[in-house]
Amino acid sequence: MDDLRDVGEPVDETELAIEGALRPTSLAEFVGQHKVRGQLQLLLDAARIQQRSPDHILMSGPPGLGKTTLAMIVAHESGRPLRLSSGPAIQHAGDLAALLSSLTPGEVLFIDEVHRMARSAEEMLYLAMEDFRIDIMVGKGAGATSIPLDLAPFTLVGATTRSGLLPNPLRDRFGFTAHLEFYEPAELERVVERSAAMLGVDLPVSARAEIARRSRGTPRIANRLLRRVRDYAVVHGGGADAAAVAAALELYDVDAIGLDRLDRAVLDAIVHRFRGGPVGLSTLAVAVGEEAETIESVVEPYLVRIGFLGRTPRGRIATPEAYAHLGVAHADGALRFDDL
Ligand SMILES: Nc1ncnc2c1ncn2[C@@H]1O[C@H](COP(=O)(O)OP(=O)(O)O)[C@@H](O)[C@H]1O
Ligand SMILES: [Mg+2]
Repeated sequence: MDDLRDVGEPVDETELAIEGALRPTSLAEFVGQHKVRGQLQLLLDAARIQQRSPDHILMSGPPGLGKTTLAMIVAHESGRPLRLSSGPAIQHAGDLAALLSSLTPGEVLFIDEVHRMARSAEEMLYLAMEDFRIDIMVGKGAGATSIPLDLAPFTLVGATTRSGLLPNPLRDRFGFTAHLEFYEPAELERVVERSAAMLGVDLPVSARAEIARRSRGTPRIANRLLRRVRDYAVVHGGGADAAAVAAALELYDVDAIGLDRLDRAVLDAIVHRFRGGPVGLSTLAVAVGEEAETIESVVEPYLVRIGFLGRTPRGRIATPEAYAHLGVAHADGALRFDDL
């Protein structure tokens, strides 16, 4: 999978290191997300004044918008140690019990992809979040007993791309949910400007604007495009100018408005194979050879946001704007006729 298309967490060590290095460490440095920043600031200030752990926080939104970064900022700004874990690593209640009982007082526990935790662990987490207490089961069958265990107070920061998959009792126990939105081009320009300065890339304003416009509203993608443009400039000897941006992005299949291969494959399938839709998510996933979850949590949010895709009770539809972008005449009449 090429790394421009993969908007998930980087798996490659160098990519991870670079992403880590580009992470803002304070709310003041964190670009955009005005509302969420204000909300978090209030929460952290209140906790500091009252000298207690901040409430549990849920970060919700598509990949690459800053959930992990904000979790780190919460720990950093409140001067607390941070422990990192993730839903897929918590396959049994015992995994969670071991993690929770080893926390030091006031520690911030970050659980990424919190919707992917085992069900038994979720139930243990309800009690832990509410009362800082868990019940540990000892023994099996008729002789099994539960031993209550008190925990040090902690702040849970959960991140999810699928808040709809969280059971209500778990969602209700977060004191605050930060809903991260896609970024405006002007905000992404600031992200790119900051990263270019940190990476020592001399980037003209026009190149910066072009990268921002083609980053799918996502800082992670903006940072990746910047690095590919830098690569291009290094290899071809020119500067990292608008021409280098255009050439590099063409090489990586990023189109004029920032859609990547998978975005276009999804639109293409709806328009050509399903005559504009409606088509069910699983059928669509099979048609483009991707996991339904990837389509739903990575591809669709942005296509919906720019008004190219609609989610209806009967399935996904392509809008006239999507047709126009693909350069296909909108078969409105045919669609209506089919619907009868
Ligand atoms: N608001 C922001 N300002 C500056 N950089 C950001 C911002 N949000 C995200 N980033 C950068 O984007 C990358 C991905 O962010 P991350 O927090 O890992 O996203 P998520 O956890 O939501 O997938 C990081 O390198 C981070 O530095
Ligand atoms: Mg993350």
